[in-house]
Amino acid sequence: MNVVQQENARFRWVTLNASDTNVDEGAAIIQGLKQMPKTLPCQYFYDDRGSQLFEQICDLPEYYPTRTEQAILETYAAEIAQLTGSCELVELGSGSSRKTRLLLEAYSKTNDQLQYCPIDVSAGILKTTALELLHQYPKLKLCGLAGTYEQALDQLPPAELENRMLIFLGSTMGNLNPAECDRFLDRVRNALQPGEFFLLGVDLQKNPAVLEAAYNDSQAITAAFNLNLLNHLNWRFRGNFKLDQFSHWAFYNTVEHQIEMHLRSLATQTIALETLDFQTTLQAGETIRTEISRKFHLPTLVKTLETYAFQPLQVWTDPNHWFGLLLCQRQCISDECP
Ligand code: AVJ
Repeated sequence: MNVVQQENARFRWVTLNASDTNVDEGAAIIQGLKQMPKTLPCQYFYDDRGSQLFEQICDLPEYYPTRTEQAILETYAAEIAQLTGSCELVELGSGSSRKTRLLLEAYSKTNDQLQYCPIDVSAGILKTTALELLHQYPKLKLCGLAGTYEQALDQLPPAELENRMLIFLGSTMGNLNPAECDRFLDRVRNALQPGEFFLLGVDLQKNPAVLEAAYNDSQAITAAFNLNLLNHLNWRFRGNFKLDQFSHWAFYNTVEHQIEMHLRSLATQTIALETLDFQTTLQAGETIRTEISRKFHLPTLVKTLETYAFQPLQVWTDPNHWFGLLLCQRQCISDECP
């Protein structure tokens, strides 16, 4: 059952599937740890501490994606607002909404009504950010959703404005493998009406040295972020992971065009997740893959989006072509067409 809370006239927030969440989540964790090689779902990076560490990553000199995407948005936010017209903004993985503020600025100049639905698995950062934004934008109405993308896309509340734009920035789509990405795009298409918009930010293929540096920063913040996943599982599922028995490993897989982050076990050890009634043994040197971060080829991505009824209206990049921002419009399919 969803828990709806009304903070004030401009702020509603909903916790999706609060009661049965743990059951579903546990299954994905166990499934991943039974695989060869072992994997863990990357959504578990984002407890409150993990969300804070991610904010620090965004400011690292080596981590170019955030500032590159930010620069693209700074240049084109006004044009995006103009191309879409009045629009409700729905954002997946909103976090601190730092880049979305540029869009809120642009839309507040052209729209009388400003409606924003941030969606994030980390309820803490969602709420803190929402309260800040309400203060900053007096016209803004907010509807926060705490939950996964799947839950949110399947249960989006009805639009309050006549048009809607789904926003997915930071190349978070790269965390999905091709099969997951297909299911995701299917969900996005179903969540939007013909004529509505999808704004997608993606990291692009480039020199592997640049990529590897971005995930192996000299201050080891990315390592702390990776290890924090174990800490999250420890408190959430009464786990016994010892963080000093693991080390961070990130590399670019040139065949799959993806960064892979792993945690390497420094010893042979048995780990248990008590509330999931699960345990497994790790060999010394064995790794658990915690994240893939796919890097895209723009022309291929454009073709994929078209097969999901998303027509790219504009594709923007930075001068280095390191990052892409695509504004797509949902086309009508078969029986929807007039
Ligand atoms: C913003 C979630 C896509 O894959 O680059 C940053 C997360 N992981 N450093 C990414 C991340 C390691 C990030 N995403």
